[in-house]
Amino acid sequence: MRKGALHIHSLTEKAYAKLNISLDVVSRRPDGYHEMRMIMQTVSLCDEVTVSLRHDGTISIRTNLRYLPCDDRNIAVKAAKAFFANTDTASSGADISITKHIPVCAGMGGGSADGAAVLRALNKLTGKPLNRRELESLGNSLGSDIPFCVAGGTSLAEGKGEILTDLTPLPACIFVIAKPRFSVSTPELFTKIDLCSVRYHPDTQGVLSSIKTRDLKGICQRMYNVFENVLPPKPDDIPKIKGILLDCGALGTVMTGTGSAVFGVFDDEEKAKKAQSYLAQQYSDVFLAEPQGRLDI
Ligand code: C5P
Repeated sequence: MRKGALHIHSLTEKAYAKLNISLDVVSRRPDGYHEMRMIMQTVSLCDEVTVSLRHDGTISIRTNLRYLPCDDRNIAVKAAKAFFANTDTASSGADISITKHIPVCAGMGGGSADGAAVLRALNKLTGKPLNRRELESLGNSLGSDIPFCVAGGTSLAEGKGEILTDLTPLPACIFVIAKPRFSVSTPELFTKIDLCSVRYHPDTQGVLSSIKTRDLKGICQRMYNVFENVLPPKPDDIPKIKGILLDCGALGTVMTGTGSAVFGVFDDEEKAKKAQSYLAQQYSDVFLAEPQGRLDI
């Protein structure tokens, strides 16, 4: 076979988790969604998403977690359908296989990362019919965090989450992430925030300035998530995890997204590993990760 005639039919994409360095809810929109102002960071913890093209219109999915839906409810299936509906390619279906490592219902964008990875994989396998902005816009029709997950890196996300401004990469650091056993419902938390008046907002401008000057301590001092103050009265795992992280030398700690995962930022690997081993005695979902740069699309 001639080299040029070789077509790739299968590809494995890494689907990276995201952390919210800061999260602000600015207002409620007439469509029920909320105007957000978030500083998002992709991290090295990832799922693996393998996509193989089919020509018979079938979209199949399997994952290593038995309780995840393997039908149209899965965001990865929705992403594949949206891709084929919006492109004119010879292929019309795909087999998708996902190995999950990102904890589910943690506020780390695991489902969104998988959906975005399917979009990237299909785009590459079909000769890149869409550019980055077109993939983000397709992702926006599927979920608010998917546009960011398409290219990732360090971004300011506004609107529902789809208005993205690329930022200077975060300085080198180590994230220690722990997810308590309980999970939080995202729609429930948005409803709760509508019912209370948010007294404290993050200093988003200050975080942006610190990112620009690559001042890790300045970033960490300003990390804040408005959802932390509206959490349902659940066990005190969140303050407990934060306390352990700070005792071990974290420069700052915050909950990510609508939780329930919490992370600390370290500039010292030894201290980060010590925090990880303390937390692992009490929690099963504990991870070390580092910032992951923006992907080329
Ligand atoms: O867009 P996505 O499906 O990820 O959103 C899940 C839920 O989170 C929405 O149904 C909505 O209740 C809430 N949401 C919101 N405003 C946003 C993003 C999400 O109210 N900007």
